[in-house]
Amino acid sequence: MSQQTAILHLPGQDPIELPILKGTAGNDVIDIRTLGAAGYFTYDPGFLATASCESEITFIDGDKGILEHRGYPIDQLAEHSDYLEVCFLLLNGKLPSKAENAKFKKIVSEHTMLHEQLSKLYSGFRRDSHPMAIMCGVSGALAAFYHDAMDLSKEKHREIAAFRLLSKMPTLAAMSYKYTQGQPFMYPKNSLSYAGNFLQMMFATPCEDYVVNPVLERAMDKIFILHADHEQNASTSTVRLAGSSGANPFACIAAGIASLWGPAHGGANEACLDMLIEVGHVDNIPEFIAKAKDKDDPFRLMGFGHRVYKNHDPRATVMRKICHEVLDDLKIDDPLLDVAMELERIALSDPYFIEKKLYPNVDFYSGIVLRAIGIPRSMFTVIFAIARTVGWISHWKEMVEQPGQKIGRPRQLYTGEVDLTFPKK
Ligand code: ACO
Repeated sequence: MSQQTAILHLPGQDPIELPILKGTAGNDVIDIRTLGAAGYFTYDPGFLATASCESEITFIDGDKGILEHRGYPIDQLAEHSDYLEVCFLLLNGKLPSKAENAKFKKIVSEHTMLHEQLSKLYSGFRRDSHPMAIMCGVSGALAAFYHDAMDLSKEKHREIAAFRLLSKMPTLAAMSYKYTQGQPFMYPKNSLSYAGNFLQMMFATPCEDYVVNPVLERAMDKIFILHADHEQNASTSTVRLAGSSGANPFACIAAGIASLWGPAHGGANEACLDMLIEVGHVDNIPEFIAKAKDKDDPFRLMGFGHRVYKNHDPRATVMRKICHEVLDDLKIDDPLLDVAMELERIALSDPYFIEKKLYPNVDFYSGIVLRAIGIPRSMFTVIFAIARTVGWISHWKEMVEQPGQKIGRPRQLYTGEVDLTFPKK
């Protein structure tokens, strides 16, 4: 079949044929790369209809509420896999064999420790720093420790950077928390699972052993799976753009962490729990719904809405289930869960939310689970960053390894002054 094209009619020019590229799923894209030569750019602030790259990693159908990693639906991965297996899948494009799985986990566990000098960096931060601020700094600082082994053209170097990031991120994160608590850092324990080790580094002290509760360990692991990747979101696109110049991958991940921090992105889980606390009681819900609907009020229902999902976020469905499992196991009767469930029920039957296709996203229930596990609010986005690191590295690797990769360099619609004459003094 010959390639389909789109015909573009521009004023005073012959029609331009633009190739239509077909993916394996999702929207086809119009290849506009030759348009610049015709003297035009396309205009799409916020990337509402722009595919910034070609990728084989994650597919989302926002209208149907589908999320798949390398072809596997997220609910199946959350149910039958574990985080490190999902990491292998994202990084390598296929599920590991038993032997590959064991080897991958062993390598990840062997890189969990930090260079001792890196831990000294923490003391330069104020005790009351937000852990995400610390994470931006210390993750970028990894570049200073591993710059020599970073020749991007060498596959081995890219691979070792991926392992280092995956292994060290929970250590960096737990230390960001311990530092703000004034508690000693806990070294990683490589005999524990990825999630179990993170909980140990968060909650153990040198005076007291921490016994990992298997229900919480599994819940933590599932939270990591649910946040592992989400195609070209703001932070992943940031990592790709930073990496497109050939920058050090550790520095690129620091850029991703900065982007993730915002309340419209990863910071929403912290903001969502703050909001549930502020609502406080089901009786107050109508007031908050009214505020969310009021055009003159900047308030938004946190944990609701998504740029891509115009249907249920499939991660939210899994997260709601985890939430019930964890609270049941811990025998916690959290009034915030009642508030969340009632808020969801009311919003989903309200014409404003129905018309705008606003559904709960992954962050709506994650805060309640994390709170039940004992994770403080300021660490919520940090946990998202740990989980998303594998997505960032997978996309960075895919981009670097693509033939003909170019630096990302968007153009603009200029609306400022031109050709002014500088006043004589
Ligand atoms: N509460 C109330 N109204 C909302 C909400 C919300 N949570 N989200 C969107 N709307 C309304 C907007 O006011 C807008 O209304 P209008 O068309 O009358 O102007 C309309 O819905 C579309 O909203 P946009 O902001 O244009 O949609 P966009 O795709 O740019 O934003 C976003 C998506 C940022 C996630 C938005 O829904 C939001 O701010 N949600 C709350 C924050 C949140 O939960 N973020 C987490 C995202 S998931 C993640 O990062 C893991």
